[in-house]
Formats: sequence, C-alpha cells, structure tokens
Amino acid sequence: MTTFSKFQRSTKQIISFCARSFSALTVLFVLSSIMAMSSCSDDDTPTETADLVLNDGEWTGTGEGRSGSIIVKVLVRNHQVEQVTMVSQSESVFAQDAINSLVEKALGRRDLMSVEVDGISGATLTSTGVIDAINTALQAAMGRTADADKNYTDGTCDIVVVGAGGAGLSAAVAAAETDSVLKIVVLEKQGILGGNTNYSTGGINAAETAIQQELGIEDSKQLFYDDTMRGGKYENIPSLVRNLVNNASATISWLTGLGADLTDVGLMGGSSVRRTHRPKGGSAIGPHLMKILKAACQKENIELRTSNRVTGLLSAADGSVTGVRVQNADGSSYKLAAQAVVIATGGFGANIPMVAQLQPSLSGFATLNHPGATGDAFAWVTNIGGATVQMANIQIHPTAEANSHILITEAVRGNGAILVNNKGQRFCNEMDTRDVVSAAILAQTQGEALLVFDQKVRKSLASIETYTSQHLLSEGNTIAALAAAVSVPDETLSQTISRYNIQQKAGRDDDFGRSATAMPVSLDTPPFYAVRVTPAIHHTMGGLSVNTQTQVLRADGTPIVGLYAAGEVTGGLHGANRLGGNGVADIVVNGRLAGLAAAALATGAMAAKAAV
Ligand code: FUM
Repeated sequence: MTTFSKFQRSTKQIISFCARSFSALTVLFVLSSIMAMSSCSDDDTPTETADLVLNDGEWTGTGEGRSGSIIVKVLVRNHQVEQVTMVSQSESVFAQDAINSLVEKALGRRDLMSVEVDGISGATLTSTGVIDAINTALQAAMGRTADADKNYTDGTCDIVVVGAGGAGLSAAVAAAETDSVLKIVVLEKQGILGGNTNYSTGGINAAETAIQQELGIEDSKQLFYDDTMRGGKYENIPSLVRNLVNNASATISWLTGLGADLTDVGLMGGSSVRRTHRPKGGSAIGPHLMKILKAACQKENIELRTSNRVTGLLSAADGSVTGVRVQNADGSSYKLAAQAVVIATGGFGANIPMVAQLQPSLSGFATLNHPGATGDAFAWVTNIGGATVQMANIQIHPTAEANSHILITEAVRGNGAILVNNKGQRFCNEMDTRDVVSAAILAQTQGEALLVFDQKVRKSLASIETYTSQHLLSEGNTIAALAAAVSVPDETLSQTISRYNIQQKAGRDDDFGRSATAMPVSLDTPPFYAVRVTPAIHHTMGGLSVNTQTQVLRADGTPIVGLYAAGEVTGGLHGANRLGGNGVADIVVNGRLAGLAAAALATGAMAAKAAV
C-alpha cells in the first residue's frame, strides 16, 4: 500500500498546488495565489459553496484502470485532501509514475479532479481510473450520492441517449438545442462519462472549413470523399461517406460555437491534405471535446446518469421503439419510456472473444479500447429485427506502444516521424493507410518497429508530451546515442535518417513513395527520440445498419421507427479501413444528426399529442 501525504511535500509543491487548485484562472491569479499562500493553509475556511465542501474523514473510492479496479482511500482534514492511500491497483510498471503524479496532484484539493486538467496522461485508462477513484472518494466526502448509489424507478422522457461518449453527448446537446422543453436523459453504464472519446488523440476530419482556409490549406469535400473511399478499399457505403463529408465542416463550426479550439490542422495517414482539426499546439482532441460537450450538457439541463446499464429496448406492437430497460448499479431494473432512443454505445474493441470470433486473424492482439467497449447494443437491436453490416471489418492501429499498449498517435508520423525496424532500416511509407502500415510492421522481426523523430517533431505536437511523462520515449543527443538506447546498429540508423533527410529536402521519397506533404520536416535537430510500437485493436468498423438520417435499419432496409444510432456502434461508413480523424468526425457529425432527428420525432409527437 502506498500512502501520499500532503505534508511530505516541499514548499514549491505546495505553491504549485495553490495555483492549480484554481485551475481556470490566469497566470496573474497564479502569481497572486503564490503571494497569498495562506489562502491555501490548513485552517482556512472553505470558500466553495456548501454542497462542494469536503467533509473531514476517510473516504474510499474506486475506478477502472487499464488492468482492473483501482481502489483508494482519501483522508480529508480541514476540508481538504491530506492523504491518499493506494489500497489496490495492478497497473503496469510504466504507469506508476503517472499514478504517483496524479495522487500528488490530489493532495490539498478542495474540489473534484478533472481528466483534462489533472490527467498526467490524459489519454490513458490508468489516468482516468485513478482520477475516477479519487473523485468517487471526494464525492462521498461531499455527501453527494453518486449514481452508483441511486436507484431510479420507471419513468418517461422525450429522448433517451444510450452512451455518454462523444457521439452520445453530441446527440443530446444537438437535440436539446432544438427545443429547451425536451426532456433528455443520457444513460452510461460506466461510472464515468467519455468512453473511448476520453482517449482519442489525433483530431477530427473536415474539408472546406474556415480554419483550413485561414491556414491556406486547399481541400475539397470531393477530395475528402475520395480519400475516405480509397482508404476504405471502396467497401464503404457511399451515401454514408457523402453524408459525412457534406456535414463535417458545419460540425466543426458547431463545435467551435460551443467553445472548442480546433485551430491546429494536421495530416493523418491516407489523407491527401491536412484536414485533421485539433486543439492549438496539437494536443489530444478527446479530452477537449468531452470538456466542451459536458459543459454544453450542463447548460442545456441534460440529465446524465452514470452506472446505469441499458439491458434492452422496449418496443410497441408496430415494431417502433418506445424506450429502454435499464439496470441500476445495485442490479434492480427500471423502464424509461421515450419518443426516441439514440444508441451511441461505441464499438466492441474491448470484447476480445467477439473480435477473435469475427476476425480470427486478430486473436492474441492487445486492444487500445476502454473496458466498456463491449458491443452490448448489438443484441438489443438484433432482438427487435435490426440489422448489422460488415461486422468482421476490425481495424488494428499500427502504433501502440509495445509494452503498455498505449496509443501513439498517428499525428506523430503526420508531423514527420519515420518507422524503422530492428536493423535500423525504414520499411514502408509511414503515412500509408493503417491496414498497410500495420501489415508492414507485423512483417518485421517480432512484429514490432521503432517510431523515430527529433526535437522539431516533438515541439510541433503537444500530445507527445504525454508520452514523455509516461516515460515511453527513449532519447539520445546523437543518433548514435539513440541507436545505443534502443539497441539498433548506429551506422544503419544514421544512414537511414541521412537518406530520409535528403529525400525530404527533395520532396521525393524514392524508396517508399511518401508524399512531400507527408514529409514536413527533416530529422536533424537533437535530441532524437524513439518509441517501440506494435499494432493493436483500435476500431470496430462494422456495426448497426443505418441510413443517412441515422435511423437504424432492418435487413430489408426499412427504418425502425424511434431508433437512431451514431458513432462506432454503426457500420459501413469506414468500409475495410478507417482513416485517422474520421472516427471523431463520425461521432460528432452523426451524433449531432441523430440528436436532430430524434428531436424532430419527439417534438412532432409532442405537437400531435397537444393537438388531440
Ligand atoms: O492515431 C490516432 O491519433 C488515432 C486517431 C483516429 O483513430 O482517428
């Protein structure tokens, strides 16, 4: 058991706590916090509103990490966190520093932690699990009843959204924006919001956006369509692709209208031009989106119920969907009737037996998915006659860190990194589509490769900083030093990088055909970095059959009235291979469309009732 106490910290650390505990405020405020350090002293009277005060005592909390449950005990004294004890966790050794750092960040708090502000490794399951465990304890200290302790009973609303990731919250917000009278409930089986969106890094694709225009990027919806179809080996359902590319630019405007920062536009594999929108500096998209969407849910008075697991759909004699059956955390059940149900439960990338059954070639692969991505919704929908499409189309991502299986975003390659094998040689066009790059890595010794880049690349992409804090990167001040650090022949690695730099400057990769756009910088600025990578299960591209209005379809193509779906739970948009950045585009574009469609149905039903 590891115990961390507030009073073991240095003055410098206490100062940093004082500043951070008011995280939304400015540098000026940070300075004044430092000068007025007594405002963080132990005998200070809490200034938060009554319901946010931490009550003194010892409180227990649990969260789900990458390798199972994380249990903590939090000691609160004088209304702030004095000590955090890790009671049990089995996260990998690579995650220990991040855990320690997060626990350290909890000391002295008077409020809840947030994934985006506090996550050392904002894009990892471990980070979220630790924060969730601490927050559960802090919520208990606040006397709030967490959803896990609440028992809901039968009820009605206008729209039920199942799943509180990016797709679900986009649907809920879009629906609420149409009519403030609509009662919208979002049900989430996990104890926290976000699903895979919490870990999404690369960005969101869109063409012909105002942001691209400002950056002088020439793109078109047609080129976006062509890239997506080519990337998907033309197995994509064309109408779904057309729908995505036609609505993506407006969706970027919608998100920026909600407060999102999508001003950095990068390149991902298989895209002809830079169209992957992400926050300034190239930081991870997912936590940023969740912050924006959660704030919008709060503004729109959308009810969010975590630890509420949907177990099936309610339907009428005419086949239309009329609500959901739900299980409370204690196992008791209730029914929630609604005019429309939106399914946004994500894919099944964490359901390893299901993946292996549908795609035996992926047996034994690790997954990049959060534990809740188990594909529960397919049974509910097929039970009432809904159809699925392309279920065996499952994507592996080429660059999961080889030991921890933490996603190393494709944006690192987009910003200039190369891949080399254990002999120090390049072996593919690193910016080809994921299926091609993954196959090329799997053909190397041990099915692994090294992703190599320099300081320029590191500086160009903020998300790389999470990998340094997770100690995933090897480093050398010279190429020879890096080669020694990762045990590859230094002469070959030096030759490989020199040759790449010559080709980069010439804008022509005669060896593997990487385009000039995809070779933005030469690798010549120390320090040099490498991370060992291997492919892992990333995205399940098959799913529920839907049309462009996000209605769920039967095998004969007829829509099931009252049932909509959006995001990774649906199938056919990405075909045989999804392009990086199209996953987030899918969840927000189609989440929003599903919300609008559900709202139209619910509003129409309300109007019809009123007219009777
Ligand atoms: O590599 C990545 O950042 C993944 C992005 C995506 O799948 O869209």
